[in-house]
This record gives sequence, structure tokens and C-alpha cells, in this order.
Amino acid sequence: MKFQAKLNPAISQKSDCYIIPITEDKTQSDIAQQIDKTSNGLITKLIKSGDFKPSKGATFLLTTQAGCAAERIILIGTGKNTLTAEEFIKLVNSATQQLNKTAAKNAHLFFDSIPVDDHDESWKAQQTAKAFAASLYRYTTLKKSEAPIPTIKTGIYCVADKKHVSVINTALKVGIAQAAGISLARELGDLPGNICTPTYLASEARKLARNEPKLSTKALTEKQMFELGMGSLLSVSAGSNQDAKLIVMEYSGGKKSDQPTVLVGKGVTFDTGGISLKPGSGMDEMKFDMCGAASVLGTVKAIIEMELAINLVAIIAAAENMPSGGATKPGDVVTSMSGQTIEVLNTDAEGRLVLCDALTYAERFKPKAVIDIATLTGACVVALGAHATGLYSNNEELAEQLLAAGTSAQDKAWRMPLWDEYQSQLDSNFADIANIGGPKAGSVTAACFLSRFTKNYAWAHLDIAGTAWLSGGEKGSTGRPVSLLTQYLMQNA
Ligand code: BES
Ligand code: MN
Ligand code: ZN
Repeated sequence: MKFQAKLNPAISQKSDCYIIPITEDKTQSDIAQQIDKTSNGLITKLIKSGDFKPSKGATFLLTTQAGCAAERIILIGTGKNTLTAEEFIKLVNSATQQLNKTAAKNAHLFFDSIPVDDHDESWKAQQTAKAFAASLYRYTTLKKSEAPIPTIKTGIYCVADKKHVSVINTALKVGIAQAAGISLARELGDLPGNICTPTYLASEARKLARNEPKLSTKALTEKQMFELGMGSLLSVSAGSNQDAKLIVMEYSGGKKSDQPTVLVGKGVTFDTGGISLKPGSGMDEMKFDMCGAASVLGTVKAIIEMELAINLVAIIAAAENMPSGGATKPGDVVTSMSGQTIEVLNTDAEGRLVLCDALTYAERFKPKAVIDIATLTGACVVALGAHATGLYSNNEELAEQLLAAGTSAQDKAWRMPLWDEYQSQLDSNFADIANIGGPKAGSVTAACFLSRFTKNYAWAHLDIAGTAWLSGGEKGSTGRPVSLLTQYLMQNA
């Protein structure tokens, strides 16, 4: 989908659809007043009769009469007061849903006059473009869509002030790039484990680098990882017929001397739990255990589209966690690339085992900051549910920046503690560290485990176990936290 900013057109401007905000106040926006006038007070009548109550996010579809330049009009309620950021996003989402039910190929959006707390015009435009473009995602790879595929191709974001056109165009471009990243992450997440293997993820990474001179991609084999001493990562794939991969992408958009930010994604393409086998019910959802990796690939895609002037390294620790005669057993001790030995008390705590070696590998890039993204713990879902990603960090500034990026992108994270008091839960009688910390504070002790491998740089860990996908009737990948990550990288460019 394309988006462009235009100076508020007169209502003689031809369009497949106008999307117009209607308030519960007496005075309506200019565009609403003009349409009301030319339609014998249609909007006024609709409100008076009670057919349309313009509460926040309510929509009403009008097919218009001859004389109106727009084939259709979607009225969108904005309620009485200024909207919160959350309310604005909800409103935009109801507009996309209504629009996607029509056959419109283009639409004029008159969101300029909608007042939102603490956010400027650019923010509104960026969120709008992101939501409209992202709403077009349909998983059709292995399933024909029953719902009609939306027809919308072009959005025209109407602005009141000519001086704003160029900044709004920039914001729209960012929103579209974020949506492309979100859609890629969702597609990869939704693919089943028999297709989306570590090798498949490596080929997707190579695909991103095709025709993109700023991006280089390589994928280390198990043999290469063995030579690097990645005994921890390899212990996870030991029971699988699928080879593990360490995928490394380097994006050079900045100056040679700029230190890169490093993203590290957990890419467990299926997590059975291994010998510590998971219960059967709902196990299919463990195909989503590579959503950290998917969000890294999605973020790289968005960064390429934005042509961001930064240096970025993206690492994906990809493996399949299976039980078999060759699988790692509870009590086995493995040696990580850092040299620290790990007692694998539970083979289902495999995310930290693949990540720790990738985090050690990250040191060679002399990073400005390292951020790992992982569907790491069920305990994080218990703590924060589906609304916020768990954030852990050894660096205050980095933590603050990520929290702010999450708020701005409406892809929220919440800071969790990484206090020393928790570390002793990882004590082992037989190795330097155990891979589980007992029943208490499971998300925290998982982060504590990672912190043993991230002492040499500023680091943050995003536990996306609750936010990366939805369960139930709407089962599917969300594409989170691509928005948060791209926003953070932009703010740091
Ligand atoms: N991939 C899971 C975490 C997970 C579970 C994410 C459920 C989303 C929903 C991870 O590999 C795992 O199995 N973690 C264990 C750790 C435990 C054995 C210490 C968990 O959370 O139960
Ligand atoms: Mn597991
Ligand atoms: Zn897992």
C-alpha cells in the first residue's frame, strides 16, 4: 500500500472513499461541515436520529449520491474529548476494518483535525499509515482466505497546512516501512514448523540481502559453531534432524566508525521441550517460538525500506528443540562459548541456551548496545499477559530509550528487575550455572541467566512470550515488537 500527504482537497476531489472524523461536540471539522452542506444536512440528520452515535471509534458507511465526489464516506466517531494514544489507534483500526470491507482502491483520510494527547501530527500520520498497511496482512500461504482480500492500494493523508506536507510524507513512509516489517514477521511466525526450519530462516535472511548492497548475510553451520565452542547452542539442536544455524546479517547504513547496534533473536523453530517434553495440549503454538527471530528479520526489512543511516548487526540463533536418542538429557553439562559450563536441568529451558552463545558471539562487533528478543518464558505471560513485553537491562539509558520507543510505537514494554538477589537461584553443584532457577520469578531468573553472558556491553532483553502471538480464535503472530525496535533504532540514528 502507498501513502501520500496532500493539502486538504476541496470536496470536489474525486475519491473512492473519504474517511471523516465526527465529534460528539456541536462543531464539526471543515470537511464534515462541507459535506453536510452539500448533502442537505445528511450528517446532522444521522446524528440527530441516533442512527450514528459518534462515540470514539464508532463507524458508519455511506454510499453517496450523485453530486458527491467520493463514492463512499466512512464516518468515524471521535467522541467528546481529546483522544489518548490508545484511543486513536483503536479508532484507526476500526476505520481500517470498515474500509477493508469495501471495494475502494483509494481513500482520503481526514485525520488531521483529530486531537490526540501528547502527540503531534507526524505521530498520527505514522501510526495511521502503519495501521492501514499492516491491516492488509492475510495468511494465505497455505490457506485460501475466505474473507475478501482488501482492494485498497493508495491512502491520501490530508493535511490542513501546506508547510506540513513534507514532514507528513516522511512520517507516512516510516509507517509503511514498519508495516512491511510487521507483515514479514507475522508471515514467518505463522508458518508451520515443518516449513519454517532454521535453514528456512537462513534463506529468508539471504533473500533480504538480495539486491541490497548495504546488507550482507551469512549463516554459520553446526560445524562452524562447534569450532567456535558453541556447546550450549548445539546442545539444543542435538536431538533434531534439522541443523542449527547462526544467522548473521550486517547492515551498513552509517559511517564506518559508527558502532553497531546488535539485535539477537531467539529462533527456536519448534519447541517440544526436548526430553523435558511439554504437555500435548496447545503444543502447536510452540511453532511461534521463533518470533524473536522473525521480529529481527522484520526490523531489518523496515530499516532497509527506511534507508536508515545506522550500522546494525542482526543475529539469529536458530534451532529446533526435539527429543531423540541423541538429545541432551536433564543433568547434562555443556560448555558455552564464553567458557562457562551449564548444567541443563530442564531441556525445555532451551531459549537461554541458544541465546547465550549468540550473545557471546555479539562481542566481536564491539556493539553500542545489544538487544535480544525472545519468547523466553511462560512466567512472563503470567506476569504481564499479552499487553506488555518484559524488558530487562543492565543499562539505565538503554532501558529508558526502549520504554519510550515502545510507548511512542504503541508496542509497549514494561521494566522488570534484574537484581543480584535473584542470581543465586541459578547455582549448580555440578557446573558454573544451572539453566533453570526454580518456580519463583521464572522470567527474572531467565534474564539473570542471560546477564551472565552480557557483562561486556550495554544490553537489554525483551521477553515477548506474551506479546508475539495471539491464541484462541485469533491465533496468529502479531509482528511485535518490530514497531518498538524500529522506533528505537530511528530515535538513535
Ligand atoms: N518457549 C518457551 C516459553 C513459552 C512458553 C513461551 C509458553 C510462550 C508460552 C520456553 O522455551 C520454555 O519452555 N520455557 C520454560 C522454562 C522453564 C522450563 C524454566 C517455561 O516457561 O515453562
Ligand atoms: Mn522451551
Ligand atoms: Zn522455547
